[in-house]
Amino acid sequence: MNEKQRQRIVDKHKDSYTRFGYHPHALYWSGRDIQEMRFKVLAEIGIQAGDAVLDVGCGFGDFKSWCESDACPINYTGVDVSPDILSEARQRHADASFYEGDVFDMSFEHQSFDWVILSGALNEQLHDDSCYAKSVIGQIYKLCRKGVAFNMLDARFLKAHDLHSLMPEYILAYCQDLCAECELHDDYLKNDFSIYMYRT
Ligand SMILES: C[S@@+](CC[C@H](N)C(=O)[O-])C[C@H]1O[C@@H](n2cnc3c(N)ncnc32)[C@H](O)[C@@H]1O
Repeated sequence: MNEKQRQRIVDKHKDSYTRFGYHPHALYWSGRDIQEMRFKVLAEIGIQAGDAVLDVGCGFGDFKSWCESDACPINYTGVDVSPDILSEARQRHADASFYEGDVFDMSFEHQSFDWVILSGALNEQLHDDSCYAKSVIGQIYKLCRKGVAFNMLDARFLKAHDLHSLMPEYILAYCQDLCAECELHDDYLKNDFSIYMYRT
């Protein structure tokens, strides 16, 4: 991701946050139900109470709240490129750690977190043949002790000039080169799929 692309993401979230405030629309989700459906699939990789979870593209830290509402409090760290979105996240979650930037700006040690999750942060169209998305997946896999769960938009059902969507089988094959135990889940929303990568 180059500086111009990153600034575009920062600017669009500044605009959306100014317009919608604390609301899923500020994160470009159509509603809370859709956001939480994605959370449920990611959490089902096996996240348990007390686990250390890194959330890449964390938005408002809503995954933490959702886990708490499901009686599964976690030790939560969030990373996001948008300072505007992060300012709200910090106000809402005094007991979590938040860092501004992308995952390559961070100096986390390998295997620092039980789980790394990512929901919606690879949906930006960067016109780079998915190179950035693949490098993020490789990087977050290095950071986990137990596994990674992320979602992407499904190119079989969604193609838009400003959104990055991919064929699930393509990215699954990429993940299988990195990790012996991967699972594809594509039965929860038409436009979306999730991949689990377990450290074995
Ligand atoms: C669709 S929103 C989802 C937010 C959160 N994961 C959720 O589901 O509530 C995507 C978020 O990822 C952030 N983002 C986009 N690209 C990113 C990147 N490369 N690294 C870190 N954050 C990114 C955006 O600023 C935004 O807050």
